[in-house]
Amino acid sequence: MKKIISFCLFLCFIGLWTACKNSSEEQKEEKSVEIEKPAEENQAGKMDTEIKYAEGKAVYQQYCVTCHQSTGSGVPNLNPPLKQTEYVLGDKETLIGIILNGSSEGLEINGKVYSNNMPPFDYLKDQEIADVLSYIRNNFGNEADAVTVSEVEKIRGNQ
Ligand code: HEC
Repeated sequence: MKKIISFCLFLCFIGLWTACKNSSEEQKEEKSVEIEKPAEENQAGKMDTEIKYAEGKAVYQQYCVTCHQSTGSGVPNLNPPLKQTEYVLGDKETLIGIILNGSSEGLEINGKVYSNNMPPFDYLKDQEIADVLSYIRNNFGNEADAVTVSEVEKIRGNQ
């Protein structure tokens, strides 16, 4: 009888041990799934773009977002959008000039004129202007080459 009881205890022990082992293995699996997630986002290239122009985004949020909005949509009749406009995507000299000097000319942007004025941002550093312009040229559905610090330096020097 004693033998049977100790055999039963032995079986219970084995049963418990297997149950514990399985559940700890399940936990391990769950963890490894969590770790894989950010790597997938990286493969999509999404994070890389954000990191590349993170400095420019910070400048944009501080100095431009009130008028041109976080999606670059602008405000109808008041402030122009920064999506697919000839100024954002086009000649860098004109673009850098608008940031340094502002504009109250009433530019025609994709067939429309906006009543507000663009203030000058000549107090920003060359690096900040290069960053913010590279950011707007590569967000809001835009795709154009980055603006470099030396390009900003050159335009500022010529004025
Ligand atoms: C006070 C509101 C205001 C702020 C702040 C402002 N803008 Fe503007 N921006 C305007 C207006 C208004 C125009 C159009 C000016 C005109 O018609 O002469 C404009 C024009 C532009 C243009 C050329 C037109 C276009 O839509 O493509 C660009 C590029 C631009 N702004 C970028 C910026 C950037 C970058 C910043 C931040 C560093 C900024 N703006 C901050 C109001 C603003």
